[in-house]
Amino acid sequence: MKVLATDNLSEKGIEVLRNAKGMEVDVKNKLSPEELLACIPDYHALVVRSATKVTAKVLEVAKKLKVVGRAGVGVDNIDVEAATAKGVVVMNTPGGNTITAAEHTISLMLALAKNVPQATASMRGGKWEKSKFLNVEVYDKVLGIVGLGRIGSEVAKRARGLAMRVIAYDPYISADAAASLGVELVDLPELFLRSDFITIHTPLTPETRNLIDKKAIASMKDGVRIINCARGGIVDEAALYEALKSRKVGGAALDVFEREPLTESPLVDLDNFICTPHLGAATEEAQENVAIAIAQQIVDYLTQGVIRNAVNAPSLEPELLKKLKPYLTLAEKLGRFESQLSEGRMEEIRIGYRGEIAGFDCAPLTVAVVKGVLDPILVGEEVNAVNALPWAKARGIRVVESKSTVEEDFASLITVGIKTDKGRSEVAGTLFSRQDPRVVWIDEFHLEAIPEGYLLVFSNLDVPGVIGRIGTLLGQNQVNIAGMQLGRERPGGRAVSVVNVDSPIPPEVMEEVRRLPNIVYAKLVKV
Ligand code: NAD
Ligand code: MLT
Repeated sequence: MKVLATDNLSEKGIEVLRNAKGMEVDVKNKLSPEELLACIPDYHALVVRSATKVTAKVLEVAKKLKVVGRAGVGVDNIDVEAATAKGVVVMNTPGGNTITAAEHTISLMLALAKNVPQATASMRGGKWEKSKFLNVEVYDKVLGIVGLGRIGSEVAKRARGLAMRVIAYDPYISADAAASLGVELVDLPELFLRSDFITIHTPLTPETRNLIDKKAIASMKDGVRIINCARGGIVDEAALYEALKSRKVGGAALDVFEREPLTESPLVDLDNFICTPHLGAATEEAQENVAIAIAQQIVDYLTQGVIRNAVNAPSLEPELLKKLKPYLTLAEKLGRFESQLSEGRMEEIRIGYRGEIAGFDCAPLTVAVVKGVLDPILVGEEVNAVNALPWAKARGIRVVESKSTVEEDFASLITVGIKTDKGRSEVAGTLFSRQDPRVVWIDEFHLEAIPEGYLLVFSNLDVPGVIGRIGTLLGQNQVNIAGMQLGRERPGGRAVSVVNVDSPIPPEVMEEVRRLPNIVYAKLVKV
């Protein structure tokens, strides 16, 4: 496996990659877009920080690429949608730079309150302007945190240590979780109205773009101080400039900008504005943390299929992977099996988990079923854990999952049903001895078929001679039967059989099977 590391990834991360068996690592810092396009087709993995832009064009030519690792949190420099469509996992390292970013936020808040950068600049100019830099305490002031996630929470803890009153707005956090941090959860208008300091810690999304705009600023306290160490674009820089000039906003500190690197901006000329060049994760500790984490995640994915911190696929941690592995095989086989049995234009895939298996996180199994269903249909396309669900969605196929921990005939059972414009069908499977996949029902017929290799699946009227005739026909055509399972509703009723064969049955022989007397349907399935 060839890995390309860019953007001055910490040496500690490179070491992890180099020490992994079967991994060949190239370090190419400062690649131009053209150089990246030229070299990327050779690589199975790409590790970036924030400088390298992983565009749709890069992903298009990167035919071997399986994973893009971001040593950091924000994946704005990666076209995640294009990666997903190509089946490329995008992973980041949440948490690795949380402390550094929270400390940076607190530093900027205090520097802003105490005019530290301005006073330093003044003294550097040989001045002693004591009264000009009269400043404020943060003690007992209200800090409004927008986005109470990892960094927001750490900022809250530190602000509580400074005896600030902390309020927060985060629609995805419960009031109890906020209360445990000593934070009062409020809505956004209230946060704007009450805060002396406002700090942003959300991702940049369509919802948060320009969250701090002219209208929002107008609703804030006069003299409010604003800090943004999250992402450029959340604060409207033009509106901020006007508000700083008019002193509606008393001061602002930005670490992130609408355009980076920031080369010129009227903001930097204002005496109540301070800034840092995206330094929120720029400590040795954070860079080592994220480099080691992403390197290990990439090694685990390429060597064992472990998915950790993917932004476009369900997680599959080593422990869960160990437990689910045989079920993943079963789930994919059931999907492939049912896909080839169903007739008509697919509308819905219905997946049921019953018994013990329903107690686990079944998201990876659902993905495996959908992959299995789509694989025989999307010939020539690589369907995997990343793009299976988006492929289904793009084709208007609903995926419905249900769970019941009640055990019935089997300790664990997975059912896969497909609804098409021509009707519905369903199969179910389980593991024998916790590892051997078995199909245990096909529609209303119970059996114990081994889903392996080529299978002749046929339904017939349960009358003497049918199976003998099929055996003879296959024998005449040099198709060896490896095993057979039969399920019937009642003697003389309908039956379904699954015949394991050692080689594919030629289409003309399948036609002959279908023409035999008392055959309802016959399909050749490959799992
Ligand atoms: P996180 O996912 O742990 O937290 C983000 C929080 O924002 C979540 O709790 C989420 O519920 C909340 N949120 C989402 N949409 C929201 C909305 N519309 N309004 C209010 N809250 C909303 O992420 P994190 O690790 O805490 O990172 C936060 C931000 O900081 C990200 O943008 C990340 O890229 C950035 N970051 C910057 C630096 C830097 O160098 N300046 C370093 C690390 C992280
Ligand atoms: C992040 O998203 O992790 C930060 O912005 C830091 C970085 O860009 O490396």
